[in-house]
Amino acid sequence: MNDFNYIGNKLHCESVPVDSIAAKVRTPFYLYSTETLTRHFKAFDSAFSLPHITCFAVKSCSNIAILRLFARLGGGADIVSGGELFRVLKAGMDPKKIVYSGVGKTEDELRFALGAKILLFNVESIQELETLQGVAAEMGIKAPVSFRVNPDVDPKTHAYISTGLAKNKFGIPIEQALEVYQQAEEMANIDTLGVSCHIGSQLTDLSPFVESLNKIKGFIRKLEGDGIAISYLDLGGGLGIRYDDEEPPHPSAYADAIMKEMGEFDCTLILEPGRVIVGNAGILVTKVLYTKTGEKKFIIVDAGMNDLARPSLYGAFHSIQPVERRDQGTEIVDVVGPICETGDFLSKGRELPICERGNLLGVMSAGAYGFTMSSNYNSRPRVCEILVNDDSFHVIRKRETYDQLIAGESIPDFLKK
Ligand code: LLP
Repeated sequence: MNDFNYIGNKLHCESVPVDSIAAKVRTPFYLYSTETLTRHFKAFDSAFSLPHITCFAVKSCSNIAILRLFARLGGGADIVSGGELFRVLKAGMDPKKIVYSGVGKTEDELRFALGAKILLFNVESIQELETLQGVAAEMGIKAPVSFRVNPDVDPKTHAYISTGLAKNKFGIPIEQALEVYQQAEEMANIDTLGVSCHIGSQLTDLSPFVESLNKIKGFIRKLEGDGIAISYLDLGGGLGIRYDDEEPPHPSAYADAIMKEMGEFDCTLILEPGRVIVGNAGILVTKVLYTKTGEKKFIIVDAGMNDLARPSLYGAFHSIQPVERRDQGTEIVDVVGPICETGDFLSKGRELPICERGNLLGVMSAGAYGFTMSSNYNSRPRVCEILVNDDSFHVIRKRETYDQLIAGESIPDFLKK
């Protein structure tokens, strides 16, 4: 359920007509609903009745206003870079609710996060562990660590977003993990506190989550047998959403399945949801620039693959809806952007209401991995982000200017002559 609905013929976000926002900020823009964000966060968080922390996956949607909202709701953050740490601190998140994932953390990033006193580092290799030990020793402190274990489970999702198979770059192979924990126990500046895993994204079936939890449970028992006690179990993110006709489990079914398996374990659960909270809480609003017909009919809009990469990159489906519904009939079209690549499309061969120049379209379910994956390709300024709260809307990120596009660039002296 979300708060993008037609009232009469006009698409609204909560009680604000989308066309009224477009008239003020121009297109394209990302548009989020506070009400949907809040409801989705609460539905997920309150589904777990065990001690837990919901660490929102910042990579899915990183605007500091949205991070502030989740902080207010009691959420934490799953970060994967120094830049994301900077954002969550600016947003006012409690460092004791921040976990840091990723295979390639640099020394500088580790130092930054140690200084910020985050809850846990999800360490993904021996070399990263050794580096963390070195930086923590230099700072005279102990680093709180969880190891990301790769359980070799097939999440049955798109290959690019599968992470828990042995052939993926993520985590420490489960059969090598015990040795890594034993090594960590010997390190003076490492405090081994948890186990983590994340098997993939956009999972629409619960069984891979349960399979991986079972493997991790077996591993935790081995650790206990070795005298290594665990206080945190981080199960990552990955719960899917409906883009088209998928039928993903409700967060409460996901939580029930996990809690059922957790029975005998006395540790704090960490969850890292991203898409399930923000995916259907945001849309991309774009305008039809031109239409043209040859072998195919093309609707050329002002948003391209630089603004929303998912269709081009993963062949992902995003529903496209008119911002104003009329009795105009339908036709089969490709909706394409202005970028000079054939791969620049938002949808292909889709039956859509007949569009004319100037019409506005909503590219739905774009709240997750939409703006955060956008780029300046073709020197296109990144679009603005708007947050609706009931009957008002707020610019939470301005549209970039041409000056900002070249802000860090300079012409060296030898080219000035
Ligand atoms: N935790 C870790 C360690 C992750 O790598 C991810 C996502 C998450 C949590 C959050 O997963 P979620 O709940 O959002 O599924 N760009 C792709 C998705 C990449 C996911 C990367 N990792 C897309 O647009 O589909």
